[in-house]
Amino acid sequence: MPSSPIRPGFIQTLACNWPFTVSLPGCQLVTACFDPAASREQDLLDHGLQPSGSNRKRQGEFLAGRLCAAQALGQNGQCASLPTRDSDTGLPVWPDGWCGSITHSHGLAAAIAGPTTQWSGLGLDIERLISPKRALRLCDAILTPDEQHWLHDLSEDEAARRLTLIFSAKESLYKAINPLTRTYFGFQDARITEYAQDGWLTLQLLRDLSDTYHSGMEFPCLWTPYGHGMLTLVYLSA
Ligand SMILES: CC(C)(COP(=O)(O)OP(=O)(O)OC[C@H]1O[C@@H](n2cnc3c(N)ncnc32)[C@H](O)[C@@H]1OP(=O)(O)O)[C@@H](O)C(=O)NCCC(=O)NCCS
Repeated sequence: MPSSPIRPGFIQTLACNWPFTVSLPGCQLVTACFDPAASREQDLLDHGLQPSGSNRKRQGEFLAGRLCAAQALGQNGQCASLPTRDSDTGLPVWPDGWCGSITHSHGLAAAIAGPTTQWSGLGLDIERLISPKRALRLCDAILTPDEQHWLHDLSEDEAARRLTLIFSAKESLYKAINPLTRTYFGFQDARITEYAQDGWLTLQLLRDLSDTYHSGMEFPCLWTPYGHGMLTLVYLSA
């Protein structure tokens, strides 16, 4: 099996970790904890990446996400080199026969990779818990009217937690589908139709994105409380 890339000092942990209640055949998920302020330009150079002029925090999260992705591919027996970034779209470029997704947030990073024989798209997102005050401000932008209704009977804290979950699930849906359609869609273009306490939910598209991805289609999403917030994963079967 290919060896994993060297872990730079600003990354405290980098390990395989499947935090969801359901496993997905052939998929590997790797998570990292890192100190964004401690990353150095040399860390990028050591991994064959050119510092892009972006700030140190951005460079640190970029490298942490890439190292998670390389390790996820390495666990699957693929060459453990870092996926490059498409300069036009910002999308990670996965090796032929593989798809995946990368996320990072406030010192946490994660990536998943799976074979395209089984999965046509994967979307992974970590979101920091949104405060009740901010949740009130974001509600109209993120939630459809029926999702807002669904939060009515919850306490302020629980409603903020649920909004964080919906926000993250919708970003995961976008990250799973956008690389396939290259069509932008917003938070009002999908809604939650089913929710289970034990870590899964269903999202439904509310507009046509392509011949394949159209209004009314439903997508499964796994979720779990993770670190400072929520981790969600949308998966599209091949
Ligand atoms: C693209 C987007 C989803 C990224 O989410 P985020 O929470 O800001 O950031 P994350 O750390 O989770 O993910 C960033 C990573 O996603 C990947 N990425 C970037 N654009 C992407 C896209 N269009 N599709 C899939 N993955 C993408 C990259 O790997 C990026 O990290 P990198 O630049 O270090 O390689 C978000 O910025 C966005 O544009 N959202 C608006 C669209 C949306 O969510 N609609 C909801 C539809 S219901």
